[in-house]
Amino acid sequence: MSNGILKGKRGIIFGALDEQSLAWKVAEHCHSEGATFTLTNAPVAMRFGSLQKLGEKIGCEVIPADATSMEDLDNLIDQSMTALGGKIDFILHSIGMSVNVRKKKEYTDLKHEWMMKTFDVSAISFHKLMQVAYNKDCMNDYGSILGLTYIAAQRVFPDYSEMAESKALLESFARSFGYHFGVKNKVRVNTISQSPTMTTAGSGVKGFDTFFDYSDKMSPLGNASADSCAKYCVTLFSDYTRMVTMQNLYHDGGFSNMGMNPTLLNTETNME
Ligand SMILES: NC(=O)c1ccc[n+]([C@@H]2O[C@H](COP(=O)([O-])OP(=O)(O)OC[C@H]3O[C@@H](n4cnc5c(N)ncnc54)[C@H](O)[C@@H]3O)[C@@H](O)[C@H]2O)c1
Repeated sequence: MSNGILKGKRGIIFGALDEQSLAWKVAEHCHSEGATFTLTNAPVAMRFGSLQKLGEKIGCEVIPADATSMEDLDNLIDQSMTALGGKIDFILHSIGMSVNVRKKKEYTDLKHEWMMKTFDVSAISFHKLMQVAYNKDCMNDYGSILGLTYIAAQRVFPDYSEMAESKALLESFARSFGYHFGVKNKVRVNTISQSPTMTTAGSGVKGFDTFFDYSDKMSPLGNASADSCAKYCVTLFSDYTRMVTMQNLYHDGGFSNMGMNPTLLNTETNME
């Protein structure tokens, strides 16, 4: 079902790797809601070829860019404005990668050079992207910039490791840059804190299945799917949320406000 709520909007979507990716679903929903946008990912991710197929399917130009490179970001924004024929209304940052998690290092024995790389890819890239966009003055008034995050920024999920700090940093960049972008041209900057979702980045976390199941049972509405996350992103790119900025918005079926859910207990609860 489409209501055309993004008709006439131009955007840039980072991070669609394959059909499971949150950004992939966002791209499909933005397309069906009438937006035009470019798709981007790290040059190394292009080798798999899926993004090109998505681009062809929905008629979007695909522009490779390493989100940690200011030069790549600069080119990406220039090329996107040329391809789309004007300034940008929305940007999705859907990027995450932990070197220590990939290399299976325990949290108490992390390699700090790798941690710096993790922060650069997963969080500082958000600041870099916003800095390039801000200085190029490429955003239309009332534009919307979104990053995707996880509740491990606020609570401890031991196996999420250094990604917890990455997300805390990402959310802080959204608030701080949200101020500057708001004052400059009323651009909104927010993060969506999404439920665990079966994607390449998600399932890289140790014990992800158990994690996913726990969260699903704890949340009164169950885990939010990638599809519903994409729909939420669409609302935040639309004109219906023009006054929402500098927020970390939970999209998690209620998980973030739960203390205990009886469904998780093995024995039946007796409150008498
Ligand atoms: N899957 C989950 O459980 C979950 C939950 C909450 C938040 N998130 C967040 O959602 C976002 C998207 O992740 P996903 O779950 O769709 O997984 P994904 O693996 O499909 O997406 C991660 C993307 O980051 C890209 N990337 C990595 N390094 C890059 C670089 N240097 N430059 C540009 N792009 C780069 C990858 O190529 C990939 O497309 C991430 O920020 C992730 O932390 C995921």
